[in-house]
Amino acid sequence: MELREFALRVLQSDQLNLKLQRPDRLSDSAPGAAMRIELPVRPSNLQFAPRKTAPAMPKGQALHAPQKRAIAHHIMANHELQALEVMAMVLVTFPDAPPEFRMGLAEIMIDEQRHTRLHASRCSQLGTEFGDLPVNGYIWKKAADYSTVLEYIAGLPLVFEGANLDHTIEFQEYFLTHGDQRGADILKAIHLDEIRHVEFGLHWLRQLKPQGTSDYDAWLDNLHWPIRAASAKGEQFQKQARRNAGMDDDFINRLMNAFMEGALSTNPDVKFLVTFINSWYDPPKAKEAAFAMIDKGADILYAERFGVSDAAKEKGILAIGNVIDTAGDYPDTILASALWHMEPTIDKAIEAVATDSFEPSDYGPYSFMSYGGGSFVADEKLAPADALKAAKEKEQEILDGLFRVNVNDSEPKSTM
Ligand SMILES: [Fe+2]
Ligand SMILES: [Fe+2]
Repeated sequence: MELREFALRVLQSDQLNLKLQRPDRLSDSAPGAAMRIELPVRPSNLQFAPRKTAPAMPKGQALHAPQKRAIAHHIMANHELQALEVMAMVLVTFPDAPPEFRMGLAEIMIDEQRHTRLHASRCSQLGTEFGDLPVNGYIWKKAADYSTVLEYIAGLPLVFEGANLDHTIEFQEYFLTHGDQRGADILKAIHLDEIRHVEFGLHWLRQLKPQGTSDYDAWLDNLHWPIRAASAKGEQFQKQARRNAGMDDDFINRLMNAFMEGALSTNPDVKFLVTFINSWYDPPKAKEAAFAMIDKGADILYAERFGVSDAAKEKGILAIGNVIDTAGDYPDTILASALWHMEPTIDKAIEAVATDSFEPSDYGPYSFMSYGGGSFVADEKLAPADALKAAKEKEQEILDGLFRVNVNDSEPKSTM
């Protein structure tokens, strides 16, 4: 089947099974003339509903109820279907795109067809047919702005599919919590595909970006950052933010869990001591807690609060810094630090106000490394060369969107 024919079948069929029908062997000998599609044809029960009429994504405890899990699958099936339609639109809008890009995209479309089917059938098993509820057209509407292949790459694989790496993990955990193994398996399978889809985006960003431009700049330039990145991410992340609202110590748990997971990834035998001082700022108490840990055998400290590095320095052991770089204050003590930079968040807010486009949203993503909101530093005199090299490689994977640190809000526990 010709790519154009496959794409048009996805875009112009009013029956779901035709939109989701897997094509036989694909060829691209007649890409045809560029064609602009305003709206995909859909069955009457899957028309894009007016804003705010589709149900919101249920999260957390709510997913205990099978009907709520059905709603989640319903929403996710519609996301997958829109991704499929946007990709089909790219095939007919950009017939001159590199043939390997077009063929690779068509292969990803087959994955998206499968993802839609997986969600739709699980939704049906849980008592709701795909099409019983209103669906939004958010992803499609964003795609209407793509005027180049690069804008598509910056916008869909590197924003929506990138965000889906988090969402698939998040929902996998929710479903497992409620004993829904099948739901979790579906999300796991999609997560693995999604990693390849994001890699595909990154590969083509690198192929098509102007020479001498960094990946990150090419991405931002083609997002018309921050306006579009903000709206795309905003909608994706807002619910997560609401879930976390009012639970300040989750934020601390995340940092510790991420640190512990990182340590375990290099040494599975490592043991942890965790102490909460139950205060935001109490350096003497933190220092005292750190001394107690050292007495119990801790040989390196994670200095999440002020006071810990003082204890490390006094006892002559190493510490890992957090949020701000204090290496200068504790010479020969701070091995490496995870730093937070609030500037992208502030810049975004100021720019939104200045352009009269401010709206409440979750600014969390602007603290991500990819936005320049976080960074890694190490003391090259203290860190062994091979460890430093491994850490820098991991840093690059994070920046490239190939590695995502798990967000785990559960309370970390001592293991020794
Ligand atoms: Fe997908
Ligand atoms: Fe995908």
